Amino acid sequence: MDQQSHSEAALRDKARAFLPGGSFGNAGADLVIVEGTGGRVRDAAGKEYVDFLLGSGPMLIGHRHPEVMTAVREQLERGTTFFANSAPGILLAEAICEAMPCAEKVRFTSSGSEATLYAMRAMRAFRGRSKILKFEGGYHGMNDYALMSLAPRRRSNGIEPIPDSPGIPEAIREEVLVAPYNDLDAVTAIVEEHHDSLAGVIVEAFQRVIQPRPGFLEGLRALTERHDLPLAFDEVVTGFRLSYGGAQEFYGVVPDLCTVGKVVGGGFPLAGLVGREEIMAQFDQGAAGEEGFLPQIGTLSGNPIAASAGLATLGVLRADEAYARLFDNGRKLMDGLANAMRSAGVEAQVCGEPCVFDIVFTDQPIVDYWSWESGDKSSNARFNAVLREHGVLKGTSKFYVSVAHTQEDIDQTLGAFEAAAAEIARH
Ligand SMILES: Cc1ncc(COP(=O)(O)O)c(C=O)c1O
Repeated sequence: MDQQSHSEAALRDKARAFLPGGSFGNAGADLVIVEGTGGRVRDAAGKEYVDFLLGSGPMLIGHRHPEVMTAVREQLERGTTFFANSAPGILLAEAICEAMPCAEKVRFTSSGSEATLYAMRAMRAFRGRSKILKFEGGYHGMNDYALMSLAPRRRSNGIEPIPDSPGIPEAIREEVLVAPYNDLDAVTAIVEEHHDSLAGVIVEAFQRVIQPRPGFLEGLRALTERHDLPLAFDEVVTGFRLSYGGAQEFYGVVPDLCTVGKVVGGGFPLAGLVGREEIMAQFDQGAAGEEGFLPQIGTLSGNPIAASAGLATLGVLRADEAYARLFDNGRKLMDGLANAMRSAGVEAQVCGEPCVFDIVFTDQPIVDYWSWESGDKSSNARFNAVLREHGVLKGTSKFYVSVAHTQEDIDQTLGAFEAAAAEIARH
């Protein structure tokens, strides 16, 4: 039986039978997507959605982009994986180094979670110290260190992290310090007190949907430089999205290391750690020697299909005013959303950058994890549900905008915003 001939109900039954919670752990168990084209997807029941989930971000130029399809088909004919250098990965590394200000060398992984794990390990090895400073609410994937104070349900004493999952060794807590995003005074105090044991700082320059305050990233850069600490930007979301050169180009602050993922794999599993030669040389046994060598191996690292898709995606992004279109789409959506809520008398903040944003139901400006967390979650759930009914799909806490979204997609979404605003105003 062909996979497409299973009914939606049969697929959901099988999902419940064979997957914990009936899902892959990503979007909910109530959704089975069968195909995507451009800025839209269709579910197994045949319903079409304007897609702002975008595969959680990778499909920036839309589903099944012809140039990506051609590149992938051509590579499929040559072979799918070799566990050795291959042309697409080498050329993708070159493209990343040409694009991102901090990039002198690239090491590929299959997921962003691995990339951030290596970013933290590389900083620890480089400085010969063990503690990493991260930010409350900052997401760096699912590794043990990343799952410190990603979504704390209570406030800690300020710097002490709260693990977001059972099963994380207690010892990891000792190795992570947590700071409030956008609070340079707080970060400065922590770094000044702990710099002797700190190995480096990892940050989402644009944290989830929160913009950096003017001066925050510049201050963080100056602070880390002053204490000779490597600074890593997690650019899994922002790389090739905020601008071709990522958040570091967009905000004009250059870190020592960054991670990339999502867009750079063109919809296939590929991510990477990128950075200054001096730090990345630790992955080179010849340069680092026996003692300093940082091994990093992955069966599918630099996979040629993924790298071909990534290269084709970057090619599309370099052409045709892709970013102007992306930001134009995003601005129309953000403005339309804010207007819809204002007209319905709903108190809300539309926050983010035009390519990634969301709505938070609060009268407070969103500057850090706790101001974001103060938003009314039931209104958010209602908002997302009304959008879904109106054929607009998004993640629980993000809109990912696509270069491929059309005016028709935007108009449909603006209509859904009005319906959602009316529904929320009624409650
Ligand atoms: C900023 C950031 N870092 C890391 C990751 C983890 O990437 P992956 O899901 O590929 O492991 C994500 C995933 O959403 C992310 O948003």
